[in-house]
Amino acid sequence: MKKVAAFFLFYLSAQVTFSQSNTTPAYKNSKLPVATRVAHLLSLMTVEEKAGQLNQVNGGAFTGPAANDPGQQAKMKMIQAGKVGSMLNVTGVAETKVLQTIAVEQSRLGIPLLFAYDVIHGYKTIFPIPLADACAWDPELSRQAAAIAAKEASAEGLHWTFAPMMDISRDPRWGRVMEGAGEDPFLGAQIAAARVKGFQGNFGEENVLATVKHFAVYGAVEAGREYNHVNVDRYTAWNVHLPPYKAAVQAGAATLMNSFNVFEAVPASANKYLVTDVLKKQWGFKGILVSDWNSFGETMTHGYAADSADVALKVFDAGSMIDMETRVMVSQIPGLVKKGKISMQALNEAVARILSIKFKIGLFDDPYRNCNPERQAQHVFTPAHRELSRKAGQRSIVLLKNNEQVLPLQSQQKIALVGYLAASTDDVFDFWVAAAKAPAYNPVTVQEGLKHAGANVVFAKGFDENNRTTQALTAEAVAAAAQADVVLVNIGLSGKLAGEDRSLAQPEIPDAQIEILKALRQTGKKIVALVSAGRPLVLTKAEPYCDAIVYTWILGTEHGHAVADVLFGRYNPSAKTVMSFPYAVGQIPVYYNHMNTSRPDPTDGMGNWYSRYRDIPNEPLYAFGYGLSYTSFAYSQFSLSSQQLKKGQQVKATVTITNTGKVAGEEIVQLYIRDMVANRIRPVAELKGFQKIALQPGESKKVSFAIDAALLSYYNELGQLQLEPGEIKISVGGSSDKLLSAMLQYE
Ligand code: BGC
Repeated sequence: MKKVAAFFLFYLSAQVTFSQSNTTPAYKNSKLPVATRVAHLLSLMTVEEKAGQLNQVNGGAFTGPAANDPGQQAKMKMIQAGKVGSMLNVTGVAETKVLQTIAVEQSRLGIPLLFAYDVIHGYKTIFPIPLADACAWDPELSRQAAAIAAKEASAEGLHWTFAPMMDISRDPRWGRVMEGAGEDPFLGAQIAAARVKGFQGNFGEENVLATVKHFAVYGAVEAGREYNHVNVDRYTAWNVHLPPYKAAVQAGAATLMNSFNVFEAVPASANKYLVTDVLKKQWGFKGILVSDWNSFGETMTHGYAADSADVALKVFDAGSMIDMETRVMVSQIPGLVKKGKISMQALNEAVARILSIKFKIGLFDDPYRNCNPERQAQHVFTPAHRELSRKAGQRSIVLLKNNEQVLPLQSQQKIALVGYLAASTDDVFDFWVAAAKAPAYNPVTVQEGLKHAGANVVFAKGFDENNRTTQALTAEAVAAAAQADVVLVNIGLSGKLAGEDRSLAQPEIPDAQIEILKALRQTGKKIVALVSAGRPLVLTKAEPYCDAIVYTWILGTEHGHAVADVLFGRYNPSAKTVMSFPYAVGQIPVYYNHMNTSRPDPTDGMGNWYSRYRDIPNEPLYAFGYGLSYTSFAYSQFSLSSQQLKKGQQVKATVTITNTGKVAGEEIVQLYIRDMVANRIRPVAELKGFQKIALQPGESKKVSFAIDAALLSYYNELGQLQLEPGEIKISVGGSSDKLLSAMLQYE
């Protein structure tokens, strides 16, 4: 509130009117083509005003270090002087309107601002964290969730979200895995494209611009430590990390964000190979690039640039554009142009991209198009939005274990609900909850969800917010369990430990929670673990004490309702993991699409000398693509329409799936390939297709996948697709570690 008031007072005290000519300048004439309007506006702009379009300023809470902040008054003056092109972290109709009015009515040319915000998994109606949402393997659902987030955000003054985050990561120590779609490039690419389409729609009033981030390879930070070094070769980048960014660009993403990390020892923001060669030339990206928070400035900390002028020159030369919160572009570009180090033509090209987007979304014609209080009142946190969030929540929950069908619960069962997390609103919500911060937007806890479902529940805290237990807490939990038919224990980690700057060296179940599980186990009651966390945790120590394990992630507004729906079988779980669950921290990175190595296992005649650990298995506890249902599915009659594939032709892989259980369910059927011999070694399995099907008990369905050379191809280090003749293993199944296979000859 304070901030709004300050902005507003400044606005009133600084009303300046510029002489208006009677004729509308060409750039304000909505009948003219965008290119004409852009060219006209550029012809009127000073070099300082052009540099201003490359300047993005924070106007709200800090989502990065505050060191460069000049204060609100200075920011206002910069807007008036035409030295700000966009703002982040300002939200709300009233707040954005005040600032937009300064830009439009008090700056010389009246160029409107773009307002951007991290709308990562919802705005006020919060959806499952993106990692959980990806476990639904349902791009259409991901698209719908993004569309609702856009509808709410755009109703509150925003034009632009810094999402989707599409960094492939194989390391659950990295907190930001919560923001991505997991470890697989194929699935990641489908979801990236879907989220972009959901946010952007047709660039209408209810849409926001999407940002592909973080470009590139941020998910490979060494040892999962935030902002750490990245050392990935081009071959790996092209095959593992770049596909989702590419898919998002092809889906029409209007903007893209540089990452903090280096690629090939050059900071991503200043990396000509990434920005100019790959993004602009190879992929033909025509949109806007924005730095990450101070990532331009941090090229100095990396030891790549000497001072502000050096930074501005290096990032600009690489092809980067908008400077979030370093202010080197606005301060240095005019001087660099005057010295002839940056050409006016290159500057015009960059600024034209930004202006084009502003024209395209109609900001010059109606700068206040997203400042409509009625839309704000009607379009935010609606029952329909919450309903979709609940649906997404149900479809994100992964059933990891269900011995003796302890789940679903029966309505008459007496339940002991144990665990601080089950009653906490904060801990099953964060990270990135956008504008859902007031108590009115609190998520439904598991305790509330169960009560609402009419369950007979007794709650005991078991452990506290610091993951400590006491004799009294344990005794209370055991007493509750003794009275119950079944015990639900909400273990895991707070959402506050997920997200940016939340790396963990030990992504494990805390000791106190294991102690509680042990104590409860001794009651002889059935134990169901509900695990809430923003990443796959190592569950190896907890698993033996649990009859069932339900991975509930962090599901947003409807968390508790979605969990209750699954526990009572009102929704039969269908989600599958999108990251491997490590057996031990020492196994990380562990991922399904690994290379074969020279000595993969003893059956290859290597005797004991093979690639393994002496103390733990090689395999993760739960593999990529794994997830149970309350029913069971059998795969049979797998066949290829031909054993040979010729260039330009297709082969069909077909499999029959039967629901062999007693209830209706959905199954995610997965297609994998393995290129047995290639010019560059290939992974032991690569996801190349999936279909989600619904089956009644006893029902069978045939599922087919079309296979052609494009699907089988891989990238060389130049980013060219290639495929040599030879054998390809084609596999299908309901999990990456349980597949039916056949050989295909590519000729
Ligand atoms: C994050 C970005 C985010 C930006 C703006 C940075 O610290 O890395 O993902 O969009 O802040 O909030």
